[in-house]
Amino acid sequence: MDARYSIRWAAEHGLPRLGFLALRAQGDLLARLMSGDEGYDDPYSLIDQLRGDGGVQVTRAGYAVFGYETCREILRDRRFGVRKPIDSAVPLPLRRYAERIAVPPNPIEAPSMFALDPPEHGRLRKPVASAFTPRAVARLGDRVREVTAELLDAMAAHESVDLIATFAAQVPIAVIAEIMGFPAADRELFLRWGSHVAPLLDVGISWQAHHRAMLATEALTDYLVAHIEKVRRDPGEDIFSLLVTTGDLTTTELLASANVLMGAGFETTMNLLGNSIPILLSHPDQLDLLRAEPERWSLAIEELLRFDTSVQMTARSVLEPVQFEGGVPLEPGKSVVVSVAGANRDPAKFPDPHRFDVTRANAKDHLSFGTGMHACIGASLTRLEVLQALPALFDRFPDIRLDGEPTRRRLSTLRGYSQMPVRLKSR
Ligand code: HEM
Repeated sequence: MDARYSIRWAAEHGLPRLGFLALRAQGDLLARLMSGDEGYDDPYSLIDQLRGDGGVQVTRAGYAVFGYETCREILRDRRFGVRKPIDSAVPLPLRRYAERIAVPPNPIEAPSMFALDPPEHGRLRKPVASAFTPRAVARLGDRVREVTAELLDAMAAHESVDLIATFAAQVPIAVIAEIMGFPAADRELFLRWGSHVAPLLDVGISWQAHHRAMLATEALTDYLVAHIEKVRRDPGEDIFSLLVTTGDLTTTELLASANVLMGAGFETTMNLLGNSIPILLSHPDQLDLLRAEPERWSLAIEELLRFDTSVQMTARSVLEPVQFEGGVPLEPGKSVVVSVAGANRDPAKFPDPHRFDVTRANAKDHLSFGTGMHACIGASLTRLEVLQALPALFDRFPDIRLDGEPTRRRLSTLRGYSQMPVRLKSR
């Protein structure tokens, strides 16, 4: 393990972590949201206190925005970019040194499209976006149907299961394996990789969490480089093979895109499926409505995405001086936390926002898939996955119920459960 990763950790996470700890002790709301149990367990009450007038809030922990309109505006505004400079509060020599240290390829590091601004962003995004043709997505849909049926059959042999391990993780794993052309036998690898890399999206993670993420990304890089070579020799019918054989992406760029597809496509959907189940179980009237009128499921899925999104926030850096009407001037070089969860629960956009309502007419306006040039490439695939998996689960196990408290993951950007004991009663 490269000791220099520790310097990256110190600059990117260690010093911000100390700052968050100090601010949290003083009650700072943004620090409480971004790090610590309160933000993981109940972000929405902190978000309500932070929203203010909906514009950019200037806090001691940084800029942040929780109002729907301003979140949307920032995600669509070219004066904001995605390159994340190390925080300017970190002493300059450490910052300069840390910025030169290369870490193994991962979803949040350039040339990942997540971390690129134009014009480089388009070069990486275009081939991936065009590989997700309606035909390719429909084929994945067929696979989801098969996998869901197999999983439900296997679950029916048990009275109780952990729904995350047996179901919520398995559906997206099968889809990723299909997109990437990975053998299904390697699925444990994706599970471990996903759980070790997900904390990198947060700020101020512990040295141990960073260390685990670096080791996992090193191992995954070896796996993916071997996979890219294999695909070059013997391409399959999958989306990734199309990307390798028809684009002009270098191996480094292909590696970055593979990382993005795995990072964006697996954890997010697993968490969305997991988050949806307790919500539906605790709203039996809504579930009854869906059972009586199954055509309502597609709007219900938008409401689930709005109500408890698995990607709670993203961030942008200020590229040039910006001042929104009635707001303060934003300083170039600083980051802005864009709270997708805050936008989705903004009462100015969604009346009575804390009410889960599968008939909410404008639920689809949520920002859970982002908007603008980085808008989610997998949105239609996700809708299709969830639209097949959730109704099939409730149909097959009409008496399903929680069997104890599900365990929340200790993350602030990605929101989900690590375990969810349920009792099933098969028909
Ligand atoms: C519940 C499921 C999902 C959620 C909530 C979600 C959410 C998001 C969000 C919020 C962004 C924008 C990030 C930003 O602006 O900073 C994004 C981008 C992206 N998503 Fe998703 N996503 C999901 C599923 C998927 C799936 C299944 C795939 C593909 C297999 C995928 C691929 C991507 C890619 C490639 C981008 C990057 C686009 C770019 O930077 O230009 N996502 N996603």
